[in-house]
Amino acid sequence: MTYVVTDACVKCKYTDCIDVCPVSCFQEGELMVIINPDECIDCGVCEIECPIGAIEQEGPDNLIWVERAKEFSKTWPSIESSKKPLPDADKYKDEENKFEKYIK
Ligand code: SF4
Ligand code: F3S
Repeated sequence: MTYVVTDACVKCKYTDCIDVCPVSCFQEGELMVIINPDECIDCGVCEIECPIGAIEQEGPDNLIWVERAKEFSKTWPSIESSKKPLPDADKYKDEENKFEKYIK
């Protein structure tokens, strides 16, 4: 089991989640972060840190995000500490289907 970053993170990347992870298993792409599913210890502390609820425990409804995280974890670099959100984060935080629009 792992926790997963989902669509809300896209175009926002608030990064409040990064500093609390005890095993530093977040990795960063241009428009979102992912959790490396092979490194996450399922502790759950990051879930409540995201101000827009982008992080969920792995479950039947978000397996696509686990698959995406597995793929991106092969190439995206680690992110070790929080930084400024993306410039228009507040503008995009409530938009839906952002992965399909901006990353895919
Ligand atoms: Fe890190 Fe725990 Fe979140 Fe997994 S659940 S990404 S180990 S803080
Ligand atoms: Fe993304 Fe939320 Fe972390 S927007 S970078 S999952 S705090």
